[in-house]
Amino acid sequence: MIELRVVDRSFGQVLSALHCACFDDGWGPNSMDEVLRSPGVYAILAADGEMPAGMALGRLAADEAELLTVCVAEDYRRQGLGEALVRAVASVVPRARALHLEVAADNRGALKLYRLLGFREIGRRKDYYRRSGNSPVDALTMMIEPKKIAPPIP
Ligand SMILES: CC(C)(COP(=O)(O)OP(=O)(O)OC[C@H]1O[C@@H](n2cnc3c(N)ncnc32)[C@H](O)[C@@H]1OP(=O)(O)O)[C@@H](O)C(=O)NCCC(=O)NCCS
Repeated sequence: MIELRVVDRSFGQVLSALHCACFDDGWGPNSMDEVLRSPGVYAILAADGEMPAGMALGRLAADEAELLTVCVAEDYRRQGLGEALVRAVASVVPRARALHLEVAADNRGALKLYRLLGFREIGRRKDYYRRSGNSPVDALTMMIEPKKIAPPIP
């Protein structure tokens, strides 16, 4: 069974390995540790027994939160884990006014997931990302009230 839990900085290497497996420009152990040390940052790890399956990072600053990153290892995709991770990030900050995120306009899978959850598009940053080969891609900014997607406390 896959379990999601909040983890601390001691899981930095595991989180970094997952991130690097999922993104071309994934955060190595040092970058990950730096992010985890930043004020208000928290991490959720999804594990299938001992096997890391997915992770997400959130950040709370005053009354606004941000989904910094979310990723699921290839073998575990399309089983609802991405959705569960985003909901878990929201559930840590149920009283925040907003949960923001940024997504590449060509990341169709992630965009579909966020739209299904109810995130709405609030802005576009032109040519914000560079793909390999240097082609520019816009970033879309989206938001939702976290309490709308946080799972109920049992
Ligand atoms: C985006 C990502 C986190 C989704 O994780 P996941 O566990 O596969 O997502 P879920 O199973 O919860 O998907 C829920 C729904 O979102 C949509 N969705 C998710 N990935 C999709 C894809 N690649 N293509 C089309 N729709 C997709 C589907 O509607 C899916 O429901 P369905 O499987 O019943 O059709 C995963 O593909 C990933 O890690 N990608 C690489 C990293 C990344 O791009 N992260 C987001 C950065 S903003």
